[in-house]
Amino acid sequence: MKKLVLIGYMGAGKSTVGQALSEQMQVSFMDTDCWIEEKQGRCISDIFAEDGEDYFRKLETDCLKELLEQKENGVISAGGGLPLREENRELLRKMAYIVYLQVSKETVLERLKGDSSRPLLQVADRETRIAEMIQVRHPIYLEAADTAVEVDGREVEEIVKEILDLFLNGGFGKK
Ligand code: S3P
Repeated sequence: MKKLVLIGYMGAGKSTVGQALSEQMQVSFMDTDCWIEEKQGRCISDIFAEDGEDYFRKLETDCLKELLEQKENGVISAGGGLPLREENRELLRKMAYIVYLQVSKETVLERLKGDSSRPLLQVADRETRIAEMIQVRHPIYLEAADTAVEVDGREVEEIVKEILDLFLNGGFGKK
């Protein structure tokens, strides 16, 4: 079995769904953002503020290279911007089935109300920023993924079940 990676925009529920999936599948779970924060001993906002986004993106690639070396099964939640680099998409493809959790601007706005941990969303007009980013990223996420799953208005259990059904029935590869 390959690993299973969840990609998608901030607030799509990658960590929540990933954790639930890993429990059902009885495999390990990891989150690339947490991996980076642990290695760096500082939070993502500080990494962005002190060393910039490019530096953070390099750390994401380092994380994937290390994951590629680990042979065991597992579920991974990938930071929202991780699939933007072609190099990262290639690394992901080598090691994992890739599921895109597709979320709307409205859901993101609601879920991340008051959130201050995402440096890219600390802007005056958050709604426009989210809309623009989703527009740019959506085709990239779609292209990177084996399967896309809509999350708006759905319970975690339902999303987990859809992914598990696809996974167990060999439905990956059908977008
Ligand atoms: C980012 C998403 C964040 C985190 C960083 C940048 C992005 O992860 O990696 O703030 O560019 O979309 P989540 O998607 O887990 O929020």
